[in-house]
Amino acid sequence: MTTEARATAGVDVAELLGLFPHGTRLADDGVLVVGGCRLDDVAAAYGTPTYVVAEDALRRQARRLREGLAARWPRSRVLFASKSLPARAVYHLMHDEGLGIDVAGGGELLLALDAGVPGSAIVQHGNAKTDDEIRRAAQAGVGTVVVDGEGEIGRLEQLGRDGQPVLLRVQPGVDPGTYAGVSTGQRGSKFGVPIEDAPRLLNRLANSSRLDLRGIHLHLGSQMFGLDPYRKAIDVVSALGEFDVYDVGGGLAVRYTFDEHPPSIEEWLDVVTEAARQGLPSGAELWVEPGRACVAESTVTLYRIVTIKHGSPTFVAVDGGIADNFEASTYIGTRFQATIATRVGGDELVDVVGRQCESGDRIAAGVRLQDPVIGDLVAVPVTGAYTHTLANNYNGALRAPVVFCRDGVMTPVVRRDTDADLLARELAFP
Ligand code: LLP
Repeated sequence: MTTEARATAGVDVAELLGLFPHGTRLADDGVLVVGGCRLDDVAAAYGTPTYVVAEDALRRQARRLREGLAARWPRSRVLFASKSLPARAVYHLMHDEGLGIDVAGGGELLLALDAGVPGSAIVQHGNAKTDDEIRRAAQAGVGTVVVDGEGEIGRLEQLGRDGQPVLLRVQPGVDPGTYAGVSTGQRGSKFGVPIEDAPRLLNRLANSSRLDLRGIHLHLGSQMFGLDPYRKAIDVVSALGEFDVYDVGGGLAVRYTFDEHPPSIEEWLDVVTEAARQGLPSGAELWVEPGRACVAESTVTLYRIVTIKHGSPTFVAVDGGIADNFEASTYIGTRFQATIATRVGGDELVDVVGRQCESGDRIAAGVRLQDPVIGDLVAVPVTGAYTHTLANNYNGALRAPVVFCRDGVMTPVVRRDTDADLLARELAFP
């Protein structure tokens, strides 16, 4: 194919690089360099599949969120929704960058505390907090507990710490316009309390002798492209009275593929703070708790091609799949881009599939690669959010390591599972 034809049919390399972590470049021989580390060096050192996190890009995004919100609403906090990438190194980094930490289970609390995050910087979520989790949060001195339902109030009063600051999570009844599986702020959601119950429960919390009601929480959904739902939801909760704190959740979409154009972080913060200025008390604190927008773009998953089946479509099968990227299967594999890490771009239309036994195990469908051959490294960008956290051992897969790259230095922060890990939980034969 001529260069000219390649330009029209092939991938726009600059656009492709735009999906990679900030600071990603090509080495002189064309190999992708993430966080200053050549991806072929990362694969040689840690194998594949591996989550490669560009540490500077992650820090930059955390700062962009925190400074962006503070510039628009000084009494504010950005909480990192840690379910999106719960690794100790990430908790440590987010705390270091001045973000609070949202945990949604005893395990996330454990990781956060073990990473050195003080309890006071932690916000505890969960629609089904166990007694044990409530006790552990109290012991850790968790800064804020988000009350998710009426039944939790009595248990918190009994098992929580005296004077525990709390928010009440409400369902604003607003459609976030995203996938049903990640919509949470609508009526009928299992999260939060219906808006019409809120006045009664707020009253109960305000009169509690053990709990300190600070304000309202809402979270509408995830991978949201529209900003209007935030406006509407803030308007809805503004009618509930005046409080010290309003946490409007996370949910901002990120760009996974070329045809997606989500709002920028700045546009999101503009809308949220404008809506807050319209409806909320000017002295109130405004909190947001992004996960995906905080971490997705920081990470590239690195695979090796195991086999190729030529046909229509041509399947390029790599050594990972659902076990390291559950998102690709839950969203029918249409959301990711991919490239050969040592020959970026190209024009050969293929489906990059995984090796797990599900037809939905398609990592990147309809992507263009440059002359893929067995043994090539494949890099899939925008894989920081909801990948490592949803990793599993399907088909006996060994879960992938997480490697931080910064200024050319690789630091493994989570190791790969071993065969011994797989066998470790297996007990006697009956
Ligand atoms: N706050 C709360 C209370 C949440 O439940 C979530 C996400 C967030 C904040 C952060 O949302 P984000 O900014 O990341 O959209 N596993 C699904 C995503 C589930 C999101 C769960 N909650 C996926 O793979 O797309």
